Amino acid sequence: MSRAFGYHAFGGPETHTYFDRPDPRPQEGEVLVRLRAAGVARLDSVLRSGAMSAMNGHLPFPHVMGMEAAGDVLAVGPGVTDLEVGDAVFGFAFSGSGSYAETTVLPTANTARKPEQLPYEWAAAIPVSGTTALDVIDGLGLPAGATVLVNGVGGSTGLVTAQLAQSRGFKVIGTGSDGKRAVAESLGVTFVSYTAGDVAGQVRSWAPDGVDGVVDLVGGDSMRSVAGLVKDPRHLISAVDAAVADLGGQFVARRLDRTGLETVAALMAAGTLDPHITRAYPLDQAADAVAAVDSGHTTGKLVITFPA
Ligand SMILES: NC(=O)c1ccc[n+]([C@@H]2O[C@H](COP(=O)([O-])OP(=O)(O)OC[C@H]3O[C@@H](n4cnc5c(N)ncnc54)[C@H](OP(=O)(O)O)[C@@H]3O)[C@@H](O)[C@H]2O)c1
Repeated sequence: MSRAFGYHAFGGPETHTYFDRPDPRPQEGEVLVRLRAAGVARLDSVLRSGAMSAMNGHLPFPHVMGMEAAGDVLAVGPGVTDLEVGDAVFGFAFSGSGSYAETTVLPTANTARKPEQLPYEWAAAIPVSGTTALDVIDGLGLPAGATVLVNGVGGSTGLVTAQLAQSRGFKVIGTGSDGKRAVAESLGVTFVSYTAGDVAGQVRSWAPDGVDGVVDLVGGDSMRSVAGLVKDPRHLISAVDAAVADLGGQFVARRLDRTGLETVAALMAAGTLDPHITRAYPLDQAADAVAAVDSGHTTGKLVITFPA
């Protein structure tokens, strides 16, 4: 049996439940993993709400929450030849078995070996947050020397996006509340506080002719307020708001494959990227972790950790 956290119906936090379930059986192309860390992502409670029931509406309740998993392979399913029992791995818990649980199954196509020196907590920050950073930066398609605005720089995707942008030779301006200034500036990001108002005007004080690229991680009015700063709207990309297309920009094209996972892991292992794990919770406090991320104002990445 495996202890798990999830929800017994679509809805809000009132649907949360801790429960036991039998270890899932790895099917063709899957591995059974003993979790060491799970990333907490905004998407997790969106799935709980039922807003994306095309993805999870067919699954029986209770659902286990979480999509980002890191742990050790306990068993391999039929046809699996590229991962072995005992491998330390991380990847997407796509198969409906979730990651806020002591064991889960992962599809090998969306799972990678964890570099030895990479902590499980860091690996658990890669599937959703880390590879989104890779996809938005690659999606911009800008050359070194470009100036890029990261709207929502202080969160789990924003801090990795800023560091990845810098590693590509971009100058980075980032937006956030006053509370994100210290961490952003510690990374060498030119910080613009939305608490102070007139975000676009503040950005123009640093970049009078506008910026070469905008990565939007907030959406809505916030996205619209910075969209006009980009010189060419094709270099406006959002990971949040499909209305970006109405502004001439693009919604991020997500690659969820092993190569993306490996690319980000290698950059973390080399010290180029730090996911800024700001808090780790035991599984029996998963509800607190979800509530914190649902606030929309956390710094860096929150994870759930499991004993070795
Ligand atoms: N499409 C995808 O596959 C994909 C993948 C990953 C993430 N996302 C989405 O991208 C968004 C960001 O993800 P995340 O993981 O970074 O979330 P997160 O860790 O919750 O961080 C969000 C950050 O945005 C900041 N923020 C909130 N309002 C802001 C505003 N008006 N201007 C600037 N900053 C603001 C928040 O703190 P402060 O307000 O204190 O600055 C917080 O640090 C989420 O909506 C998530 O669902 C989508």
